[in-house]
Amino acid sequence: MLKGKKIILGVTGGIAAYKIPLLLRLLTKANAGVRVVMTTAAAQFTTPETLAALSRNEVVVDIFPKQGSVIKSETWHVMLGQWADAMLIAPATANTLAKLAYGYADNAVTMLALALRCPLILAPAMDVDMWNHPATQQNLTKLREYGYFILPPEIGELASGLVGEGRMPEVETLRDRVDAILERSYQDMRGKKILVTAGPTYEALDPVRFIGNRSSGKMGFALAQAASLRGADVTLISGPVHVETPRNVKRIDVESAEQMHNAVMKHRKHQDSIIMAAAVADYAPATVAAHKIKKEEMKQGWYAVLKKTPDILESLGAKKGKTILVGFALETTNDVKNATAKLKTKNLDFIILNNALQEGAGFGSDTNIVSIIPRNGKTIRLPKMPKFDVANAILDRVFNKG
Ligand SMILES: Cc1cc2nc3c(=O)[nH]c(=O)nc-3n(C[C@H](O)[C@H](O)[C@H](O)COP(=O)(O)O)c2cc1C
Repeated sequence: MLKGKKIILGVTGGIAAYKIPLLLRLLTKANAGVRVVMTTAAAQFTTPETLAALSRNEVVVDIFPKQGSVIKSETWHVMLGQWADAMLIAPATANTLAKLAYGYADNAVTMLALALRCPLILAPAMDVDMWNHPATQQNLTKLREYGYFILPPEIGELASGLVGEGRMPEVETLRDRVDAILERSYQDMRGKKILVTAGPTYEALDPVRFIGNRSSGKMGFALAQAASLRGADVTLISGPVHVETPRNVKRIDVESAEQMHNAVMKHRKHQDSIIMAAAVADYAPATVAAHKIKKEEMKQGWYAVLKKTPDILESLGAKKGKTILVGFALETTNDVKNATAKLKTKNLDFIILNNALQEGAGFGSDTNIVSIIPRNGKTIRLPKMPKFDVANAILDRVFNKG
């Protein structure tokens, strides 16, 4: 994938910057065109001259081009932002992660990162305590929500002499990850229309109380993000969640199972695939009180009668046509048997099984462990992976892309 690709290498002031000339060599050897931007702190660890020689291009350190600079345009950041196929910031310091999380544009790297139109990949590297600091971890959560790719640091001996998480992966690993991300964002789903549902539903008991579930929406949002990056036209119908909408995704917010049912049925036509990752309530209070129920009214305890909610998968399965229908099954017991039964009774093409009780899987987690069960063919059991990678694996299977 790297051949002929245009890569921006952003270098910030971490000790691992000494490895960047080697990474640059690997990228140019793979016939990628590379432009380097760096911070003034990075220039303490590796020289702009080395990187200019290896990239055969002027390196941008100063946001205001100097007299005689070959970077003629004053708006070089806009020009490079539109030119690139991907930008990798390696090493990404704690300082730069914080700036990116808050939209700073005060140096060549952060300014260009804001003006990009292509995937941004971050390779954080720092001391273990800087990495574990809640501020850094919160910034990373924000950056993931913006749709940036984080290449996690490795555990090992650090420059400080401490041992722990924070080491930048080897340059070969970085090159391979950039290659894989370029492949993922290579628009192989252009022209496809996909509807994804995500998050929980809330079923009102009265104007302030509801029955809900613990779904965070992360799996559905990862699916929407992955499909959108691959060029699909994505509509995302979401229950109440606190997750940032991925770029270029049309989001429709709903609250109850009934609202989700209506929204899905309204948008189901002409979709190549509908992926139901939402955790939709099966039951909702039969009546909703018009006022907030007072304690005094329920002295003997509150006995609510629940009614069945509309079954979205069943409604879709009945009118499926050519749409590839994908359901999720979250089980805690008898998983494969229950999931396979659901696949058949609801007329689905695939069911994605996850077990809520497994460590690193299910609600809230950033990772998931799933099995992809097709109507025809072999079940694929995937190891624990980031939800974004799980999303791509599901899309690969659904659209038969290896
Ligand atoms: C010797 C030395 C090594 C450093 N290594 C790192 C590092 O590996 N990761 C990091 O986040 N910061 C590191 N720092 C701190 C950054 O250089 C500092 O936060 C700087 O402001 C980063 O600027 P930049 O993000 O604009 O490049 C180091 C500082 C020194 C003096």
